[in-house]
Amino acid sequence: MLFDPRPKTRREELYDREPELRALDEFAKKGSPILVMLGIRRIGKTSILKVFLNEANLPHIYIDSRLFEEHGFRKDLLYKVLSDGLNKLRSRWTSILKYFKVLEGVEIGVATIRFNWREKSLSILDIFAKLDEWASDNSETVIIAIDEAQLLRYLKGGKGRIDFTKIMSYSYDNLRNLKFIVTGSEIGILKDFLGFNNPNSPLYGRVRDELIITRFNRDESIDFLEKGFNECGIRPPYNIIDEIVDKVDGIPGWLTYFGYRYCRKPSPEIVREVFNEAKIIALNEIRKLSSKYYIHALKAISLGYKRWKGIKQTIELWMNHPLTNAQISRILQTLLKLSFIEKEENEYRIIDPIISEALKEL
Ligand SMILES: Nc1ncnc2c1ncn2[C@@H]1O[C@H](COP(=O)(O)OP(=O)(O)OP(=O)(O)O)[C@@H](O)[C@H]1O
Ligand SMILES: [Mg+2]
Repeated sequence: MLFDPRPKTRREELYDREPELRALDEFAKKGSPILVMLGIRRIGKTSILKVFLNEANLPHIYIDSRLFEEHGFRKDLLYKVLSDGLNKLRSRWTSILKYFKVLEGVEIGVATIRFNWREKSLSILDIFAKLDEWASDNSETVIIAIDEAQLLRYLKGGKGRIDFTKIMSYSYDNLRNLKFIVTGSEIGILKDFLGFNNPNSPLYGRVRDELIITRFNRDESIDFLEKGFNECGIRPPYNIIDEIVDKVDGIPGWLTYFGYRYCRKPSPEIVREVFNEAKIIALNEIRKLSSKYYIHALKAISLGYKRWKGIKQTIELWMNHPLTNAQISRILQTLLKLSFIEKEENEYRIIDPIISEALKEL
């Protein structure tokens, strides 16, 4: 079902994205060791990644980093996520198991394998090295797919931070049969975390592939909705389709959300109702921003203050005190990195139209 609100896992449920799937295929066959998949929230990153992993028939471990956000950025959880991944792998590629038997801190049961995170001599690199050894002996490539990888910057171990980029860079240099796919919706934050352009980062200067996921154009959005409505056996009037397309500007997640709800209750009022709900979802995301300055800046932009000076003056008015140029720059820089806004020819714009509308009502 095109309007299934969960991330898609099968190609039949995925609208188009053929070039993106082809790019991932090529990366797996002959690309660099790391592919970075970038795209704003709800654009379809997880769906594309999952469809690719399901179809590619390649051994892979999928890590949803939002799990750490929910349950804590803990070392034990990282080991658990890896052992869960390995358990899935070994049901199909059974020969993997014997490679892990020799490692300290690995408990192998009848049905499960478990990594003891307390065992000092069992590092994440040991686990990756064993995967690589197996892959090399069996002419395979193992894909480590990390969704929302920028969140891994918060991972903590026994003595402090776990630097996942160090693990990736070692792997990049030494483990020829492992490849990483990392995604991120906070595009600038992910880029900073990976640090390909930062001389102090372990991954500095490494060659990587990049795949940018863009929104649907108007024709694709209309076609997506029509196909989805067709699947649920209804044919809404054109003005309804136009209204939805106008409101969500080609973002597949919102198209899916409106389509799903309209299918369940086809009526003109439902579009307005869902629009209001979508704005509440958007507002909850905005409220996670740590400071009032960010929200004021976003609201100023949504109200049409597109340039630096106008944004600064508006925030100052609302906060009732002056701000330094450096403060404003920092605020806008952070919002750019979080992919809430984009900048073109010195004008700032809210990327997601639903967020923009929600802000106007704050
Ligand atoms: N090409 C597509 N065809 C059908 N449905 C899609 C497509 N792309 C995205 N969707 C739908 O849009 C919603 C968002 O997709 P998905 O979760 O894959 O995006 P995302 O970029 O990973 O979002 P987030 O940043 O929130 O993690 C889901 O309901 C998914 O089913
Ligand atoms: Mg996702």
